[in-house]
Amino acid sequence: MNKITIVGAGRVGESAAHNLAKAELCREVVLIDIKEGVAQGTALDIQESAPIFHFDTTLAGTTDLHAMAGSELVIITAGIPRKPGMSRSDVLDTNLAVVNEIVDMLLKTAPNAMLLVVSNPVDVLTYAAWKRTGWPRHRVFGMAGVLDSARMASFVAMETGFSVRDITAMVLGGHGDTMVPMTRFTCINGIPIEHFLTKEQIQKIVERTRGGGAEILSLRKTASAYDAPAAAIAAMVDSISHNRRHILPGVAVLQGEYGLHDIGMGVPVVFGENGVEQVIELPLTPEESAAFMRSAAMVQADLDQLNK
Ligand code: LAC
Repeated sequence: MNKITIVGAGRVGESAAHNLAKAELCREVVLIDIKEGVAQGTALDIQESAPIFHFDTTLAGTTDLHAMAGSELVIITAGIPRKPGMSRSDVLDTNLAVVNEIVDMLLKTAPNAMLLVVSNPVDVLTYAAWKRTGWPRHRVFGMAGVLDSARMASFVAMETGFSVRDITAMVLGGHGDTMVPMTRFTCINGIPIEHFLTKEQIQKIVERTRGGGAEILSLRKTASAYDAPAAAIAAMVDSISHNRRHILPGVAVLQGEYGLHDIGMGVPVVFGENGVEQVIELPLTPEESAAFMRSAAMVQADLDQLNK
């Protein structure tokens, strides 16, 4: 890719920009932030690491949303983060206004781009952004499942002591307390985790995964997670920019999959050069399906609030 713009030069945006540049996933990264000097300073700081990390990606920072012109991919990390005790939904109204403003400028300046939404509540905001663009759904998607799955894989590695490289975890549903860690599809070198862990151990991992974001927030107190979220962003961009067609859990607008219409939810997605190349519909057990539907109902409740 030639140009990727990240709107929001907070910690997630900054860390994501550095990851994209280090991996040379595009020629140019533009960072935009409303706080005067922040995006400029961040871009320059990252740029000055280029001779050490040996990357040719260039970075620029600005307060001007027009700078996203001509981007192939725009990533939205802007918005207010949660404070301890707040749910992701608590920041909906503020962040919706932020996303709407960015989308309106995106439509004017980069009408052929793809859009990756990261701001919370991500399922709702991805859907709202998609609706506002009027674009085909393959061009608008959200980041949550790669992060939640990475957390789950980390906890499986901690619990078993096996190499994290061998662990594939899969978390679906909305990015909230009702997210659905799919233990049946979580494996260590292809071997289901049930072979190594007791039901109780697995349940603990599921619960810790669901509270993964809150755990970081309660430790840091003034900052949400950003290192793992930014790594997750880079993993998605890598699959898109190299057209790798990785199967990654991501927020996609559903049009009939899993029996759901007109909602944004975490599902397994094939990510390639066109963004969402395919939504994979997994056969779910009645129990998994019930958990997925409970999660969908939570996302739908936020969507209803939005339509009021
Ligand atoms: C988390 C926030 C970013 O899960 O939603 O850490």
